[in-house]
Amino acid sequence: MKYGHFDDKNREYVIETPKTPFPWINYLGNKDFFGLISNTAGGYNFYKDARLRRITRFRYNNIPVDDGGRYYYIKDGSSVWNPGFKPCKTELDSYECRHGLGYTRITSSKDCVEASMLAFVPLDYNGEINRITLTNKSSAAKKLQLFSLREWCLWDASDDMLNFQRNFSIGQVEVEGSVIYHKTEYRERRNHYAFFSVNTEIDGFDSQLESFLGMYNGFNEPEVVFSGKAKNSVADGWQPCASHQIDVVLQPGETKSFIFVLGYVEVPEEDKWEAPHVINKKPAKAMLAQYSSDDQVDAAFAALAANWDRLLSLYKVDIKDEKTARMVNIWNPYQCMVTFNMSRSASYFESGVGRGLGFRDSSQDLLGFVHQIPDRARERILDIAATQFRDGGCYHQYQPLTKKGNNDIGGGFNDDPLWLIAGTAAYIKETGDYSILDEQTAYDCNPEDTGTLLEHLAASFNHVVNNKGPHELPLIGRADWNDCLNLNCHSTEPGQSFQTYGTSDGRIAESVFIGGMFVAIGPDLVELYKRKGMTAQAEAAQAEIDKMRATVLEHGYDGEWFVRAYDAFGNKVGSKECDEGKIFIEPQGYCVMAGIGVEDGRALKALNSVRDLMECEHGIVVQQPAYQTYHSNLGECTSYPPGYKENAGIFCHNNPWIMIAETVIGRGDRAFSLYKKICPAYREEISDLHRTEPYVYSQMIAGKDAGRIGEAKNSWLTGTAAWNFVAISQAILGVKPEFDGLRVDPCIPSDWSGYKVTRIFRGATYEISITNPNGVQKGIKTVTVDGKAIEGNVLPVFEKGTTHKVEVVMG
Ligand code: BGC
Repeated sequence: MKYGHFDDKNREYVIETPKTPFPWINYLGNKDFFGLISNTAGGYNFYKDARLRRITRFRYNNIPVDDGGRYYYIKDGSSVWNPGFKPCKTELDSYECRHGLGYTRITSSKDCVEASMLAFVPLDYNGEINRITLTNKSSAAKKLQLFSLREWCLWDASDDMLNFQRNFSIGQVEVEGSVIYHKTEYRERRNHYAFFSVNTEIDGFDSQLESFLGMYNGFNEPEVVFSGKAKNSVADGWQPCASHQIDVVLQPGETKSFIFVLGYVEVPEEDKWEAPHVINKKPAKAMLAQYSSDDQVDAAFAALAANWDRLLSLYKVDIKDEKTARMVNIWNPYQCMVTFNMSRSASYFESGVGRGLGFRDSSQDLLGFVHQIPDRARERILDIAATQFRDGGCYHQYQPLTKKGNNDIGGGFNDDPLWLIAGTAAYIKETGDYSILDEQTAYDCNPEDTGTLLEHLAASFNHVVNNKGPHELPLIGRADWNDCLNLNCHSTEPGQSFQTYGTSDGRIAESVFIGGMFVAIGPDLVELYKRKGMTAQAEAAQAEIDKMRATVLEHGYDGEWFVRAYDAFGNKVGSKECDEGKIFIEPQGYCVMAGIGVEDGRALKALNSVRDLMECEHGIVVQQPAYQTYHSNLGECTSYPPGYKENAGIFCHNNPWIMIAETVIGRGDRAFSLYKKICPAYREEISDLHRTEPYVYSQMIAGKDAGRIGEAKNSWLTGTAAWNFVAISQAILGVKPEFDGLRVDPCIPSDWSGYKVTRIFRGATYEISITNPNGVQKGIKTVTVDGKAIEGNVLPVFEKGTTHKVEVVMG
């Protein structure tokens, strides 16, 4: 069952009912100021850091779910309703929510009044615009009242929900004209405030939530709205909010629009006040002047769309399969951008207070968006690198606002360092910018202690070389990609962290997966050394890679597939010798991506084992058989009920590793059939089962052992976005940046006759037409560029601004 439809022309998903199986959200903002917005207008805003600069309040784990957001109440006689249905839930005559790229438009109607809310954050603006448009569709004049409501968060979202003995006494606002300023803690150590305004004179306001709602009421029955009279309350402690009352008369057919702006301002210490106790409002007023008219809003909205035109033009496929086209051309790159902006911090599953940016996560996210915003990828790489230690280890996470490593979780996740090489190589292949390797970058966030990025990469590589276990495989530390396979933790008390309890320095537990990664990613470092003329280092690194390849085959393969790991007692994990967890997905994906066992058929066997033992209707599960009991020697993965999360859930993040692995051995039919299984657009028809948004990937789909097989959770912020983009755009459709050009190497279903890819690469446009006259899955017969045949399948780098026609014939 579907709850809406794709509108590909407008690049929107159109939700046709507010009663989706779960709130279906979107993201506003692209740089510093962000908003989350659901299909019922729920959500919140923050500046840069969802924890430390939370601007509006949102109560996670609330009942009803998704309560609190950008609420507009329309009072029409005795009826009160909201354009987004919530919070009053008054039945609407019509409802439609269009989630687009960086904006959401909700339009609904009731009793011949149509209300529409356009919400977006203009480019380079620290504020969210909500343009509310009201139209009288009746033949008589309408006397309406419009009330707005935003609830302020007291900045630190974590403190905001814990420290009530303080919080209930500190809330402060100022109200001037139609602007309500939130200035809690500005009188002491903060130099920032927020404001909420509307571009018209108002008929009243409220800034104390209790006054607006009434002490025992919810958002659905605000006293002020139902009585039709604002109380002009000025917040003094408790819960500050911002609400405007606007009385509106609409003649038949008449439309009026109101531009609401929620903004954030930082003021230099010396300019904080314009009079004693009066905040300096100049910067806020300047911001408001930017968006006080419809024309200004229209222009900003057009600029947002133009920006997306540009971003999406970088990789475009023209293909018969419309679901693949909409994912490749619109939604997958969009999700990659959002994931880049948020890492794993703020969604409807990530509360924004838990984690900052992940070292591993951010490095992998890069793979999906580097072609869109290479400059910001560059900055991100250097930020991440600065959280690395001299020995190559690194903080697992860091806070985006301070750019400091997160001490709570620390380091010791031994796959982390390698991802930095992967991210940097992807950046250089995309841009050709080798200068990044010479950038001086801090160790341990200490600007006094630096090394070049290339030195950091060397440290990453050597961290694996210097940390091997009894079988000469990489030590796993706290965990590798699978954060929940904790071989050194052995926790037996509830409440202990599976990741940080126990040692990060166990010298026995080893990861075959990291071994596979090392062989897959290491060659990029070898190549960089060569290009820097560092022949000795290149040779030494290559020797280490060769050694690891042999070790993986010797100790990391046991008959039909790659072993997952060795535990702290030296026992195999993910082996035919185990009773549960006999086979894991990660090493099958990464070892085959590294080419290990491809020549002698061991890779093929491993992928057949994945197919036979781990695949189900909804994708490939993390491991099989699921753990039925908790094993302290294996950690958190065994703490989950069978079929969920890392205990045999379908972790969408690494399904694409298998897709890519399938393309390595040339099985395009398999690769694409796996692509379709977890692809949201293909799952749209089963939205009632899938439950999360049909336009973006979720982290996990419940696996075949679960109680609710096929149900997805944790949408939006997942490495799934980047990896699926890599799988479909580079491995299946086969257009892939390399150090010296663009490689074309499709691996597709045999019944595809052809498609076209337009790729802008290092400033030149490649119009690539691929045909498959003989119905093969892989292999290229001829490549011509501008009519001339070329050797091989790497398209050269062309002059910026030029366009080239490429004909590729498979066979
Ligand atoms: C984390 C990743 C991790 C994955 C598997 C995700 O929640 O963000 O870093 O690799 O889970 O455990």
